[in-house]
Amino acid sequence: MASPVSYRLEGIIGIITVDSPPVNALSHAVREGIFDAISEAQGDSSEAIVISCDGRTFFAGADITEFDKPLKDPGLPDLVKAIEASSKPVVAAMHGTALGGGFEMALAAHYRCAMPFAKVGLPEVKLGLLPGAGGTQRTTRLAGVKASLDLITSGVPIVAAKAKSLGLIDKIIDGNLLSGAIAWAGQLVADQAPIRRSSEQAVPEYDAAIFEEYRTSLRRRARGQIAPGRIVAAVEAAATMSFTDGLAIEKQAFLDCMASPESAGMRHIFFAEREASKVDDLPRDIVQRPIETVGIIGGGTMGGGIAMSFANAGIQVTMIEISDEALVRGLSIIDRNYAGSVKRGKLSEKQVASYRALISGSTDYAALADVDMVVEAVFENPDLKKKIFKQLDDVCKPGAILATNTSYQDVDAIAAVTSRPEDVVGMHFFSPAHIMKLLEVVRGEKTADDVLASVMAVAKKIRKVAVVSGVCYGFIGNRMLQPYGKTSQMLLLEGATPQQIDSAMESWGMAMGPLRVFDLAGLDIDYTARQALTDEQKGDPMFYRVPDLLVEAGRMGQKSGAGFYTYEGNRKATSDPVVNKMIEKVAAELGVERREISDGEIVERLISSLVDEGRKILDEGIAQRSSDIDIVYIYGYGFPAARGGPMFYADNAVG
Ligand code: 3HC
Ligand code: NAI
Repeated sequence: MASPVSYRLEGIIGIITVDSPPVNALSHAVREGIFDAISEAQGDSSEAIVISCDGRTFFAGADITEFDKPLKDPGLPDLVKAIEASSKPVVAAMHGTALGGGFEMALAAHYRCAMPFAKVGLPEVKLGLLPGAGGTQRTTRLAGVKASLDLITSGVPIVAAKAKSLGLIDKIIDGNLLSGAIAWAGQLVADQAPIRRSSEQAVPEYDAAIFEEYRTSLRRRARGQIAPGRIVAAVEAAATMSFTDGLAIEKQAFLDCMASPESAGMRHIFFAEREASKVDDLPRDIVQRPIETVGIIGGGTMGGGIAMSFANAGIQVTMIEISDEALVRGLSIIDRNYAGSVKRGKLSEKQVASYRALISGSTDYAALADVDMVVEAVFENPDLKKKIFKQLDDVCKPGAILATNTSYQDVDAIAAVTSRPEDVVGMHFFSPAHIMKLLEVVRGEKTADDVLASVMAVAKKIRKVAVVSGVCYGFIGNRMLQPYGKTSQMLLLEGATPQQIDSAMESWGMAMGPLRVFDLAGLDIDYTARQALTDEQKGDPMFYRVPDLLVEAGRMGQKSGAGFYTYEGNRKATSDPVVNKMIEKVAAELGVERREISDGEIVERLISSLVDEGRKILDEGIAQRSSDIDIVYIYGYGFPAARGGPMFYADNAVG
């Protein structure tokens, strides 16, 4: 097989070019090719060397698919060492994203240049790892302790200009990168620029208290994860030890992290996320429907966030509400959310102005006559939704995609009221919809292939992680929440308090315990949905008597200031003895014996309830693959990424 690496001489410059689609990951063949080219360049007439990549990006890092296989020489640290040891100046020329081991290679080069829109970063922490080819040591020497800690503990890439201001790159090249890099390398030779090895540079001054500050804040932010703490230790070693000793600390930490269940879980999620976007039975050559304009029906909690998600991707939105007053309210919630994003520094005023200009409102369905897609987000009432879909059938142009954001309702039944069920699909966003990454795309019995393909593509455009679900009550996520919720109700009646259940789950890693989640989502949503069920469908009153009583007592959850907990202005949940009494009373009425329940039992029973339902969902073909269920729980329900999702956790008995 031809090597993905080529080497050629252009005058006095030796040029190493790598072409290993899709992202120039540093597979064995790539490492070997570069290693050989560097060796060849040491003995030829070149006076400087340029390393660059073809395709859409500079190296995206180590090849993650090789992590579970035996390591083949040269390893990445050997390659990085060979680059830095070169007796001729090496220039790294970066475009796209220079990440992980890819950026570590650039850090070992003697000079670094990049295109203006290039990004560089060390995202290993997102895989439960840390840079393992000198990244912690060289970044600290070049950019200082604080910048290094920020870059490596966050894993978030930075743009070229920022990297330059931090001293991580030297030059930004506008125009043709390769010819710019070759010209610069020629200039470096002419100037007799020194071989500048980052491993030999001194660490800029720093405040020694910084390491403890980061350790404390990371213990809170990255609960239970080991990689962030090891990163701090490696950066501290860079600042306080020789390069060789620091490198040894980094290497040991990398090996320990690589062997951790946390990294196994996070690497599983990396691939699962990419897999989720693939729909197994769609023809490859399918032609998508263009989606440039979208109508949103309902400007409540969900409609506003959904509108923002589309506008933020440059898609024109028309929001329909029931009255002028409701429309003004809906649009003002959007304005408030945007103002919040500016305040938190997430968006600039200019960005917000351009996104907001894409959102208009109307109370007239005729405004939807020309839109490419509609997302309905009105109250969770099946009759209302059907009435709206009939209206959409009347007003929307042929070929418009008609989506419902229903949490539970039968998408096929909604589609059946239209004359075009093939255009109907579910798009189940999560709250707050402009922030949460998950989107369940519900494929109805008659949903056309091109509708599904178009919705998956637009999901990517609006930066959601889309997972396909079949039609069933609650789809993947909320369906699994049913037994999870039931188990939490059983645990309450059997003797645990809301506080005990939530803190057991949160200590295990869930972003929020189940009862706090129900309070946040609003207990009235399930209550209303239950009213459409027969007594038989509702099941044992054990599972819903307490939440029913809470709703009937006006405790809808956080939005009404009380649910399983009471909430003060700052949204802090406080235990309420009234609720505990209510639980005890229901337990007595239903004849449930109360006892001490351990935190371990709480976790075991709740997670098993998720996994058992997940297995049924797979057996019924509602989810395409087990890893899709993991993605739903990680991105939609605050399941800890370090545990790889419920199905991965169950299959691998992690941690
Ligand atoms: N190794 C192996 N495969 C990789 C990969 C990697 N580092 N990075 C991406 N891929 C694969 C993806 O799995 C996907 O495969 P598929 O098409 O079969 O599903 C394909 O490349 C395209 O990836 P994306 O869909 O993610 O493409 P995007 O254009 O959306 O994003 C990217 C490109 C920003 C480079 C993104 O892929 C990314 O963030 N990659 C991971 C970067 C990373 O974590 N690097 C660090 C690796 S660990 C390391 O370097 C250790 C070292 O310190 C020793
Ligand atoms: P909401 O009550 O906040 O908003 C509903 C909005 O729809 C109201 O502003 C109302 O005025 C408007 N509306 C009602 N009838 C209308 C009509 N005929 N035409 C135009 N507008 C109309 O409800 P929310 O929470 O936004 O939920 C909407 C849908 O999204 C529901 O189906 C719900 O199940 C689903 N959902 C809700 C989530 C949540 O966390 N709140 C999460 C995911 C989905």
